[in-house]
Amino acid sequence: MIILRVISQCITKYCCCCYCCLLSALVHLQSRKSQTEDEKETAMSNNNTANDDTKNTPEWEENPRKKAKIILQQQRIGNSFLKRTRAYGKLILFGEHFVVYKVPALVGAVSAYTDCEVEFQENDDETHGLEIVDDRPAVPNYKVTKAAEADVAINLVLKHFNLDPTKRGLKLTFGGDLTCASGIGASAAQVVALSRAIGLALPKELTEDEINAAGYEGEKGYHGTPSGIDNTASTFGGVLRFQRTDGDPIFVKKQIKEPIRIVYASTGITASTTTVVGDVKAKKEADEAWFAALLARYITLVKDGEAALDAGDMPTLGKLLNENHTLCQELTVSCKELDDLVLAAREAGAVGAKMSGTGRGGLMLALTPTEEQQDAVAAALEKLAPQVWKTTLA
Ligand code: MEV
Repeated sequence: MIILRVISQCITKYCCCCYCCLLSALVHLQSRKSQTEDEKETAMSNNNTANDDTKNTPEWEENPRKKAKIILQQQRIGNSFLKRTRAYGKLILFGEHFVVYKVPALVGAVSAYTDCEVEFQENDDETHGLEIVDDRPAVPNYKVTKAAEADVAINLVLKHFNLDPTKRGLKLTFGGDLTCASGIGASAAQVVALSRAIGLALPKELTEDEINAAGYEGEKGYHGTPSGIDNTASTFGGVLRFQRTDGDPIFVKKQIKEPIRIVYASTGITASTTTVVGDVKAKKEADEAWFAALLARYITLVKDGEAALDAGDMPTLGKLLNENHTLCQELTVSCKELDDLVLAAREAGAVGAKMSGTGRGGLMLALTPTEEQQDAVAAALEKLAPQVWKTTLA
């Protein structure tokens, strides 16, 4: 049965900027050392081998330093606590950028996740402030490039829960097996995991809709006016049809006939969602007729895409994913690196391939209905892309 859910996303009238500036001026101990070491490790340990995020053994099992850290953390706070903070990454099948303009999009959550631990300092502790330890794996330069936005995003979530680290100090530790890269929804996974962890640490019982609303507030720190698609996929998982509206967004959890095998690959380029979404807006305002024509083609495409998904018709789905990539090219959000990976995936047997997410770097995905196709496409992309993953959307 299809479940319709309407999300409440509170839009606060409070001046976020002033609040964030104030909080950012506080003691802020970011774990830069562990961050850069981990980025190096991810780059080295990847070694052009596709990670299978559907496998039972998480990526960190094969990384002794990370494994030791995670075991310590699990011993200290318990694995079940961390599990309850998990927030997934996502891949957009249809509609990046168009979704901002209130048309439907299709998105699938991947099984890789970010988790978070929140620790309050004791009330009588003299030193108050915010300490952030970021142990998430990431493609090189991702965390450095996103550091300022991450600070704003985290502080927006704290503000949403009326937490003020000047009054009660906080330590946040982020981990999990989602490799942070542009396009995979790492920012949404971070703020949703944080929201879940705050609920558990306070403790305060939060509904999934409340977690999602808190994640949406955090997403504003990463990209000003998010559509809400990333935090919704991160919170609820599964494959969703999502639509932003003038009021609350509407989303539907899709019933998938067969799990959908996907290969996704990073260009290694970290893009700014704020910049790319802003460029699209400027282009739209400069030529409304051009944009309206693209949007009309997209609306037909996503309708057909949803029908193909519902029917489990992979060849048609693949053809429509290819057409969505063409629309992204016309929208100027693709780039040579993405186009090359998309072509290589198709040549290696993918039934369809497209960029996914912000674009101008970031990620592409390929639809590979059989295990053989998935392996062949992953092998072809590993020759070109710094990182390649296999996953299944369900
Ligand atoms: C980013 O993952 C998706 C965009 O459409 C932005 C958004 O929907 O907020 C580019």
